[in-house]
Amino acid sequence: MAIIAQKCPHIKVTVVDLNVERIAAWNDEDVNNIPIYEPGLSDIVKEARGRNLFFSTEVDKAIDEAQMIFISVNTPTKTYGLGKGMAADLKYIELCARQIASIAKSDKIVVEKSTLPVRTAEAVKNILDNTGNGVQFQILSNPEFLAEGTAVTDLLNPDRVLIGGDTTPEGQEAIDSLVEIYANWVPKGQILTTNLWSSELSKLTANAFLAQRVSSINAMSELCEKTGADVSEVARAIGMDSRIGPKFLKSSVGFGGSCFQKDILNLVYIAKSYGLNEVADYWEQVIIMNDHQKRRFANNIVTTLYNTVSGKKIAFLGWAFKKDTNDTRESAAIYVADYLLNEQANVTVFDPQVKQKQIHHDLNYLQTRDAELNQKGTVVVDDPYEACKNAHAIAILTEWDEFRDYDWQKIYDNMQKPAFVFDGRNILDAKKMESYGFIFQSVGTAN
Ligand code: UDX
Repeated sequence: MAIIAQKCPHIKVTVVDLNVERIAAWNDEDVNNIPIYEPGLSDIVKEARGRNLFFSTEVDKAIDEAQMIFISVNTPTKTYGLGKGMAADLKYIELCARQIASIAKSDKIVVEKSTLPVRTAEAVKNILDNTGNGVQFQILSNPEFLAEGTAVTDLLNPDRVLIGGDTTPEGQEAIDSLVEIYANWVPKGQILTTNLWSSELSKLTANAFLAQRVSSINAMSELCEKTGADVSEVARAIGMDSRIGPKFLKSSVGFGGSCFQKDILNLVYIAKSYGLNEVADYWEQVIIMNDHQKRRFANNIVTTLYNTVSGKKIAFLGWAFKKDTNDTRESAAIYVADYLLNEQANVTVFDPQVKQKQIHHDLNYLQTRDAELNQKGTVVVDDPYEACKNAHAIAILTEWDEFRDYDWQKIYDNMQKPAFVFDGRNILDAKKMESYGFIFQSVGTAN
């Protein structure tokens, strides 16, 4: 919405939320205090806020005034009842639709921005048409493909914008009005229009394919470790095949983030609900492989440290699910820490952007043990050298650039010996690390 406001000064954009604290943070005089850390975003908010970009808790008023409403609420995996652990929870979508229906007194275009199961638009339309005040609603699907950490550049130069709508003349008219908004900065050739179901399913498909690439290279990483092949060399060799391409082939401790796992589970659930068990099993394997990768990374730390980490200090560099974000949702670090805490390790975490409260919250959310034990077992510090001091081992969980530039000799000198580094992101140079004295292991190379 900030980018739309920046690129379309003639359009008034109002972002509403029930959460008073969040909206207050978006309105904070110092734009560096906005609640999301995303390179470039605060400057854009600074430029547009108060001009044609507004943040407010007056939801009803904003609905009443708007001609077009983007629904951008969470669709987490269901944690209860039918579809528990797999299906998307559409509670918030439904609440939005009901609120829009009850307030709207003029025709509106409702845009699904949240990632949704295919055919959700049908449910949204049903609610709007049956509980509304007789006004006309057009539903569009406009999934978002931005990645965190690069959100601003992704939005300014998207590979494509996807808009799905009804194939009726009214549907086409609604599609055209959204195309016109994006056409303020995106070349028309890159704005794809489809029917609603293709658009909804394309989003799930894109995320499934991306996650599948990571799981595929991670599956190879384990084979590389056994055979003496080097996964980075294999990735380079296959990536130069133009049919495969070089992106998304970085082997790692496992993918995280708010989308990949949730969307694949959702896809699996949808496939199963149509009785397509082979399709469901095929995609579920991407998740199974990812869980395996996280577990075997943690397991390797334990076995390498002479089969026990009990009472040992393990330093985590990184907690976010990838660099340049403070988002920790489904981060591999959470699961690796959980595993090591079960082994009675003392975990100390440093992440340049993630705060202690979030880290403890992430562990408590798993409900593996009491909050008190999580707090006792996981110390969070704001200095990387302190995190590593007297540690038996360091695990790199996020690929923050600054980790490469640390004084690794100093870190080595202050650690317990032998000093181990487990590079879960393959960002450090093995030869250099060994020259400092470390016993160094990365993902996908033989040790
Ligand atoms: C993803 C999609 O890329 C984006 O299009 C969609 O809109 C939202 O979901 P995001 O979750 O922000 O974006 O991050 P992404 O860059 O895709 O990375 C996801 C996870 O995969 C991260 O944990 C990342 O570290 C990991 N990853 C990615 C790898 O391990 N190796 C890779 O080669 C690429």
